[in-house]
Amino acid sequence: MGVLAGKRIVLGVTGGIAAYKAVEVCRRLVDAGAHVSPIMTKGAEHFIGRTTLSALASEPVQSSLWDEESPIPHTRLGQGADLILVVPATARLIGAYAAGLSTDLLTATLLATRAPVLVCPAMHTEMWEHPAVHDNLATLRRRGVHIVEPEAGRLAGGDVGRGRLASPESIVAAAERVLGPADLHGRTVLVTAGGTREPIDAVRVIANRSSGRQGYAIAAEAASRGARVVLVSTVELPAPSGDVSIIPVETAAEMQAAVESHASASNIVVMAAAVADFRPAQAAPGKIKKDGGVPEITLEPTPDILAGLGSVKPAGQVLVGFAAETSDLVPNAQSKLLRKNLDLIVANDVSLPGVGFHHETNAVTIVRRHGDPIIVSLSDKRVVAKAVVDAAAALLGPQI
Ligand code: CTP
Repeated sequence: MGVLAGKRIVLGVTGGIAAYKAVEVCRRLVDAGAHVSPIMTKGAEHFIGRTTLSALASEPVQSSLWDEESPIPHTRLGQGADLILVVPATARLIGAYAAGLSTDLLTATLLATRAPVLVCPAMHTEMWEHPAVHDNLATLRRRGVHIVEPEAGRLAGGDVGRGRLASPESIVAAAERVLGPADLHGRTVLVTAGGTREPIDAVRVIANRSSGRQGYAIAAEAASRGARVVLVSTVELPAPSGDVSIIPVETAAEMQAAVESHASASNIVVMAAAVADFRPAQAAPGKIKKDGGVPEITLEPTPDILAGLGSVKPAGQVLVGFAAETSDLVPNAQSKLLRKNLDLIVANDVSLPGVGFHHETNAVTIVRRHGDPIIVSLSDKRVVAKAVVDAAAALLGPQI
C-alpha cells in the first residue's frame, strides 16, 4: 500500500477552467486509498458539477459554512485532515489565503488546519506573472505551504503560456511527497535507466529491449522520499516529480562517463540500466551500403560500469545492481553480487510472463550481502521500486 492509503485529504476546488482536472486528481487519490473530502467554491461550480465530484470522492461536496447538519464544517474538515490540496488555486484563493481572509468554506478550512497544505495554481500568464500573485505565493511558501508550479502550455481561450495547471500525475506525486517518509532527505541517489545503444554505422545501432520504466520508478520513489536524484537515462519518459536531474546518454561509454562523474558524491547508486555487454569495435563513419556485401562486424566488450563502481566504492555507499537471469536466479545473482562488490542485487527471471522488459509489472528477488533474499511477487514496477529503495535505505548509515 502506498503512502496515500488511509489518509484524509481535503480537496479544495476553485473557479478556474482547470477545475475539470481536479476530478482526475480526486479519482487518483481515491484509487490510492485516500479518504477525499471535497470542497467547491461558488466559482468552481461554474466549471464542474457538484454531482461529478461527489460521485468520485469519498463524501459529498461541501461548499457552505452554514450547513445545518454539520455546524462549523471548516473546523471539522481542517482539524481532521492529513493534507489539504487546492486544485486549481485561483489568484483570488491565493490572495485570500495569504491575507488570512476566511471568505468561504475553503479559505476558512485552510485557516483552521495544522495539516500540510499543497496549492496548485492555474491562471492566465499575465495573472501568474503579476507581482501581487508572486508576492502572495512567496508569503505562502515562507509559511511552509507547498506549491506545485503551473506548467507552460495551452490555456483557456487558445492562449499559450505559463499558468497551465500541473498534470494530475505530478499533483498526486507531490501529495505523496508531502505525506511520505522523508527518510532520504539530504541524500543523493544515482539511478541509471534504459538500454544502451551502440552504433554500428551512422544509422544503425545494437540495442536491447529495456524500456527504462523500472529505473524511472526507482528514481521517482527516491525523489518522493526527499532524495536529490540524478537519473542517467537512455530513454525519454516523463520526468519523475521532485528534485530529479536527468542526464541523457546513449552508449555504454557515455553512461560510464555520466555515472563516474556523479557516483562518488552519491549515497545510493542503482544500476538499473541494461548496458550492452558488447559493442562494434569500430562504428562505420557513414551508412554501410548493401551493395558492399554482408558486413562483418567485430565486437568488443564494453566496460563493466557496475564492476568499476564496486572496485572504488566509497565507505558508506550502497551499491545496487540488477541481474536479468533465465535460470538459477539466486545463485547467479549471489555470485554477481560478490564479483562486483555490491550491497544488493535485484534479480529477475525474465523468462517468466509479465516480468522485466516492456511490462508495467515485474517480479524480483532482492539478494542481500547479509540476510535472506527479499521476494517481491509480480507487482507494479512502482511496488518493486519501493522494495528496492526500502532495502537500500535500510543499509544507509546515519546522516553526518
Ligand atoms: N552492467 C554494467 N556494465 C555493463 C554490463 C552490465 O554496469 N557493461 C550492470 C547492469 O546495469 C546491471 C548489472 O551490471 O546492474 C548486471 O548485468 P549483467 O549483464 O546481467 O551481468 P554480467 O556480469 O554481465 O553477467 P552475465 O552477462 O554473464 O549474466
